[in-house]
Amino acid sequence: MSKQLSARDVFASRLGILAATLGSAVGLGNIWKFPALTGQNGGASFLLLYVLATLIVGLPVMIAELTLGRTARANSVSTFRKLAPGTAWWLIGLSGVTSAILILGFYTDVAGWVLDYIVKSVSGSVTTTDPAAAKLIFDGMVTSPIEPVIWQWVMLGIAAVIISKGASKGIEKVTRVLLPMLFVLLIVVCIRSVTLPNASEGLRFLFMPDFSRVDGTVVLTALGLAFFKLSLGMSIMLTYGSYFRDDVNIPFMATRVVILDLIVSMLAGVAIFPAVFAFGFEPTAGPSLLFMTIPAVFASMPGGYYFTVIFFFLSGIATVGAILSLMEAVVAYVSEGLSIDRRIAAFGTAIFLGLIGLPATLSTGVWAHIKMFGMTFFDFYDFLSSNLLMPIGGMATCLFIGYVLNKETFVNALSNNGALNNQWLGRGIVSLCRFVTPALILVILLQGLNIF
Ligand code: PHE
Repeated sequence: MSKQLSARDVFASRLGILAATLGSAVGLGNIWKFPALTGQNGGASFLLLYVLATLIVGLPVMIAELTLGRTARANSVSTFRKLAPGTAWWLIGLSGVTSAILILGFYTDVAGWVLDYIVKSVSGSVTTTDPAAAKLIFDGMVTSPIEPVIWQWVMLGIAAVIISKGASKGIEKVTRVLLPMLFVLLIVVCIRSVTLPNASEGLRFLFMPDFSRVDGTVVLTALGLAFFKLSLGMSIMLTYGSYFRDDVNIPFMATRVVILDLIVSMLAGVAIFPAVFAFGFEPTAGPSLLFMTIPAVFASMPGGYYFTVIFFFLSGIATVGAILSLMEAVVAYVSEGLSIDRRIAAFGTAIFLGLIGLPATLSTGVWAHIKMFGMTFFDFYDFLSSNLLMPIGGMATCLFIGYVLNKETFVNALSNNGALNNQWLGRGIVSLCRFVTPALILVILLQGLNIF
């Protein structure tokens, strides 16, 4: 292998680092999960809890993961092997890679639906104001044994091509173009939505808290969403941190990512809720909001055809950055851990993921009757990764920083070896990682397992 190939890649510019990391955070979580959960859990009061969870739990964990990755400059498994040789902590990395594989199994399925809907919206075949007809179209797609599989493979193929080019020439280059596009398109849809008659009702729903709706489950749902949104607890930020340059101010970068990600969620809410209220649809539609309610809502408004196309196109863009980060965590491990050429690792991983994803994709149709622990494959992958492996990974990473890693190593790494004056922050994060954050995550975990 030539010298150039064996040297480890780093993201080339600060803007590129921001784009790649924000690209991982932004995704279906903003456009699909956030509006659906906000709609179901009382609007603004949920939003407030979600913002608090993001700032109090999400941000410190993200800073911690990025710092670990940059310190070791390796894939997630080797990161723990390097920082704690001879111990079993590398299993956290392996659990992260496993959960990335499981998330990809169902996430690329939904991303495939989005691609399918881009084409359908361009051809005008999802343009209907009748929710029952919208449901028929959606059901027709997800129950087909072929259509969603093809779109899932298209999505995996696109991701493999980008990943095979490397962290800087692939991921960074693509996300630098896609993210500004996403912002512009989202703002266009927002302007349309808030200028509809009655838009204020939707805005009130999103921004006026109703605390009577808050209970323990709502708080925990907000915490779980914060984890999913910021791609935490599963090797992603560790892997991306390993491509950060030494002079990047990690806390500052992470803060920008977190704030911009919140802004995208907020914009998605502003794009959706005023329109939903203006045309008398239900905000509590849940996951079907994206595929059934949105096309019907947009078809009801002037210029609806174009806004439906734009909306699905921007949703497609949003999924790409998230999928790239999930796949990168797997490819970095496969190519470095097994010393396989990156291009072969990228395409090999895509094929493997296509096979893993197949049962999830078929489980909304012909395999709906096959159940694992009472769940379809789709739900089982989601449950295992989001409710089990992600919180365990996040908690274990915090405990690793709190109790295993030398405190000064972490403080030093976070301050770029003393170049930044933020030692107080490093110490603060280590203290949070000792007790507060793992305890909060434990609560998410127990709730995810329905223990309370
Ligand atoms: N953060 C992404 C989103 O909100 C999803 C994701 C989860 C990506 C976990 C990577 C890892 O859509």
